[in-house]
Amino acid sequence: MLRIDIITLFPQIFSGYLTQSLLAKAIAKGLIEIVVHDLRHWSTDPKHHKIDDRPYGGGPGMLIRVEPVVHCVEEVQQMADRPGLVVLLTPQGEPLRQPRVESMAQTGRILLLCGRYEGFDQRVIDILQPLELSVGDYVLNGGEVAAMIVVDSTVRMIPGVLGDEQSSWDDSFSRGNRLLEFPQYTRPPEFRGHPVPEVLLSGDHGKIAAWRDDQSRQKTLHRRSDLFKPPT
Ligand code: ADE
Repeated sequence: MLRIDIITLFPQIFSGYLTQSLLAKAIAKGLIEIVVHDLRHWSTDPKHHKIDDRPYGGGPGMLIRVEPVVHCVEEVQQMADRPGLVVLLTPQGEPLRQPRVESMAQTGRILLLCGRYEGFDQRVIDILQPLELSVGDYVLNGGEVAAMIVVDSTVRMIPGVLGDEQSSWDDSFSRGNRLLEFPQYTRPPEFRGHPVPEVLLSGDHGKIAAWRDDQSRQKTLHRRSDLFKPPT
């Protein structure tokens, strides 16, 4: 069982996502548990539940204050019998890749901290020492969508979450595999002058495997030759 705690200023963002198909099934089967916490609940400002403030030294935007985040994480850690890996979603973080996803799926518990505004007071990072993760070199409006990417990619690595038919076994990036997937076809054998490659209809499994492997290599070479280099 993997427990995921999500700490956010916008808990409603997750409700649709968590009640859909694969996630809902994994939760119903008891393979994962996801608990969303509203950071405002830990505000030190009882009236307006404000959790942000202006940066010392000036500059645009607002920062998330240190006290609510640290108090929240400390309390949330106590809500289960084991502490979780604290992950902070930020464009400054380690680029998320499949090996990290696979290791998170095995940790048993993760806490995802979603930022908004211009980011967190640096002391959040100094005190909590989270694993900082980025989902790509672009800036999102907040960490929520990034957290969903972490949840989505992690949950599908848990045994039993995917049916046999959708196994992650030969995914592009699974188990150290760093090749893009070969093209696939189903019926009809021809559509608008586009036939299915003949080899796939041949019944020769050796030939088919060799063709697929070659397609994967060609595609990777043309689109993502960086994947042939060892990961950094
Ligand atoms: N928050 C804003 N942009 C982000 C990104 N690219 N990755 C993770 N968290 C973010």
